[in-house]
Amino acid sequence: MSTEFSVPEVAFFGRTYSEYLQMFALDEAALRGRAILDCPCGPAAFVANACATGLNVVGCDPLFEFAPDELLARATENINDLFARLALVTDSLTFRDPVKFRKDKFDALDQFIADYRNGRGTRYIHAALPTLPFPDGAFDVVLSSNFLFCYSGIANGGLLEDDRFDLPFHLQAITELARVTRGEIRMAPTHAMQMPPRQHPYMAAAMAHLEALGFHAEIRPSPYDDGFAPFAGVLVAHKMVREERD
Ligand SMILES: C[S@@+](CC[C@H](N)C(=O)[O-])C[C@H]1O[C@@H](n2cnc3c(N)ncnc32)[C@H](O)[C@@H]1O
Repeated sequence: MSTEFSVPEVAFFGRTYSEYLQMFALDEAALRGRAILDCPCGPAAFVANACATGLNVVGCDPLFEFAPDELLARATENINDLFARLALVTDSLTFRDPVKFRKDKFDALDQFIADYRNGRGTRYIHAALPTLPFPDGAFDVVLSSNFLFCYSGIANGGLLEDDRFDLPFHLQAITELARVTRGEIRMAPTHAMQMPPRQHPYMAAAMAHLEALGFHAEIRPSPYDDGFAPFAGVLVAHKMVREERD
């Protein structure tokens, strides 16, 4: 039985609204009145729930060129495939309830699909890193979860069987996320995807890159438990104004 979990492609499934708030160590009050980008948002429930409470959020993803029913079929297959693969990996789900984990994935998907049917092309934008179709400084807060770091090659701390999202790709993508924010970037996870828990091997270079781009970067604790404690942090990067940089 294998102990290493890897995948051939980036999975198209997402998290619930409460998982998002925990993962990014945020609350609604901190987000109110701010322009927010979720990149990539996948079929997560964040955009749908946040917009329903009056937050100003746009989500983007390379798969948003597809119709709702195509995305529903793809995400359903990806979630089922995830659970089939996890079943082959020793101790893969001992840290959480697999029934709840699966239900959360489908709940998030249902909420996303219902909202995507109305919001495609307005709050759901077709886009892929490292090139985003937004003006410089368009957002106060840019959230980016479970793509960067997560899908580096398995030899470099991520889940992917190949190394197409290598360190140069990550730095280019971070430059683009930095371009479209006037405020802050939050990224999660910050840990490598293999046991035992450790910081992701690209993290130091990513933080140094953000500092070079004029951000103050730090890893803050996150209450989100994905089994990698004590490395379940969120990378928070604040854009410094000129006086702070000088
Ligand atoms: C596992 S989902 C993460 C969704 C959500 N952020 C979350 O945390 O639940 C990963 C997403 O990355 C997207 N993706 C793949 N290649 C990408 C790229 N080059 N730029 C941006 N997103 C990409 C996939 O389409 C997929 O929706």
